[in-house]
Amino acid sequence: MKSVSFAPPAIGIEEYEAINKVFSSGWLSQGPETDQFEKELAEYIGCKHVIVVNNGTSALICALLSHGIQPGDEVIVPAYTFIATINSVLSIGAKPVLADIDSQTWNTTPELMKKKVTEKTKAIMPVDIAGMAVDIDEFEDFASENNLIMIEDSAESIGGEYKKKKIGSFNHTSIFSFHMAKLITTIEGGCISTNDDEIAQKIRSIRNHGMEGKYHYVNFGLNLRTTDIQSSIGRIQLKKIDQFINHRKKMVQIYRDRLGDRVSYQKIPSYISIHPYMIFSIQVDGNRRDDINTYLNHNQISTRMWPSIYKSPYHNQLFNDEFPNADKVANSLINLPIGNGIKENEINYVCDILLKKL
Ligand SMILES: Cc1ncc(COP(=O)(O)O)c(C=O)c1O
Repeated sequence: MKSVSFAPPAIGIEEYEAINKVFSSGWLSQGPETDQFEKELAEYIGCKHVIVVNNGTSALICALLSHGIQPGDEVIVPAYTFIATINSVLSIGAKPVLADIDSQTWNTTPELMKKKVTEKTKAIMPVDIAGMAVDIDEFEDFASENNLIMIEDSAESIGGEYKKKKIGSFNHTSIFSFHMAKLITTIEGGCISTNDDEIAQKIRSIRNHGMEGKYHYVNFGLNLRTTDIQSSIGRIQLKKIDQFINHRKKMVQIYRDRLGDRVSYQKIPSYISIHPYMIFSIQVDGNRRDDINTYLNHNQISTRMWPSIYKSPYHNQLFNDEFPNADKVANSLINLPIGNGIKENEINYVCDILLKKL
């Protein structure tokens, strides 16, 4: 085996043909392909509006701005997440406040967020870690009881389901990423889903410098638009999403069958009807994690590990508290290769190498 890439995508001839069609159409930037992609996404998710933007981080920024989050407002986010969750809050001058996570599901909970509510708290932004939804009903109740805005950072969970309902179809704003490693890709890309007409209109305006009508600026906004080239890829990818989810489930089953109880896994609560496995992580002894990971990398297996954000050189100036569960998880996880284009023999090779070291 030469090497195993962390997240190989699956791009077929259909995507090439779609790009070619756009190239010869005479319109390359955001236009009719994006309108169509948005309609098809809304239909797939089962929500009223989808607004496509240039990446998932922009989608978070649009969501925060559209809900009127202001400089100085506090937004509660999990202490274990990808950095974009926190940076999006910082980018608009608001204050990210961290909440610890559950050590089994690796997601945060309303109980943990509750401890962080102050009179300045305006919003909560739970994250679906690895693509596995948080307990949405519990979070929606918590948000409404405390008069807080809920934005779900579901960057990793397109295609996922909570109590047999698609992520993104609920009555709060959700965002998704279409980065190369995600369930569907537009290379870089993202979107916001909402059932609220006003929020949707505002996001469309924020995506385009706050414009409504010709050169009439009613909101603060930026250029967060996508291109029709990328949307044409996304439209083809969306047609294949169920096939991609099934492929990932099959690959995860091989991992689990072969690794058994020599490692631990993310706990999947009964309210999860579909885990799309955007990421597949194993949990090992924290004292041996780096050693195991180095061994995988030396054997040409690409992996990822997210550090505890609040300990990173820039962000540690911003946070004082300790988050023991986030630390424990961050120090013991290895994200193994998974992707729409990964092959069965690659998964078996990863297991062969890993089993030698466990
Ligand atoms: C939890 C989470 N939030 C936000 C993002 C940001 O998405 P993007 O990389 O498309 O900007 C990601 C993407 O990796 C993510 O995993």
